[in-house]
Amino acid sequence: MAFSSPSLLFLGLLVSLCLSSGIALEEKIGYGYHLVSLEESTLHGGFLVGYLKMIKSTSKYGPDIPNLRLFVKHENQYRLRVHITDADSPRWEVPYNLLPRAQPPPLTKTPKISSHFSLPTYPGSNLIFTFQPDPFSFAVIRKSTGEIIFNTSGFDFVFKDQYIQISTQLPETASLYGLGETTQPGGIRLRPNDPYTLYTTDASAINLNTDLYRVPPSIHGFEKQWWKSVGAWGFVA
Ligand SMILES: *[C@@H]1O[C@H](CO)[C@@H](O)[C@H](O)[C@H]1NC(C)=O
Repeated sequence: MAFSSPSLLFLGLLVSLCLSSGIALEEKIGYGYHLVSLEESTLHGGFLVGYLKMIKSTSKYGPDIPNLRLFVKHENQYRLRVHITDADSPRWEVPYNLLPRAQPPPLTKTPKISSHFSLPTYPGSNLIFTFQPDPFSFAVIRKSTGEIIFNTSGFDFVFKDQYIQISTQLPETASLYGLGETTQPGGIRLRPNDPYTLYTTDASAINLNTDLYRVPPSIHGFEKQWWKSVGAWGFVA
């Protein structure tokens, strides 16, 4: 007993040193963006157009996209579109004739720069879009319940040529469904920290942890709190 305490202590110190140097050496994937301009247009039923500039480049997961163009539109009462793309050159998107949706304006080479943003929120009839400029994050609030159904604040937003990372806070009571068809042993509800790949394999469903045929790039969330009725939302990438 007299011997084991100091050696345990030593082991504990060693582990914590290794952990802290591991954290210091680990390269971040990205540092996010800041908003450099945001303007409202009343054309075609109204939309916002803004520009984002990358805060700092990293080499992890390939080249960064330094300038992004933001387009925000309340497509109808229940659907808000947040479209973020490379501001300097067009990227492939699902063709608009296959999946009809509001088309963002063409990219322009000379975005207007303004250092203040007159609109802290952009409300539709049911959903409110709000943002923080630096680092850029956005949130979506459901007007009727005050529920924050999406909030990217506190996470690094990363947009690289072949890697995109966008995260949201979730209420602890939320249940998520969606992504690819798989045979996860935990059932169809998505579980925290489980990896979900999006590959179609057309494999037999007899094996566990296998991707099957269908890949919908969407997530559906249900919020249940004992003092409220259930709210639901969907997120389509
Ligand atoms: C989003 O989260 C941030 C950080 O937790 C918080 O400061 C902000 O108020 C939230 N946005 C909304 C609309 O609640």
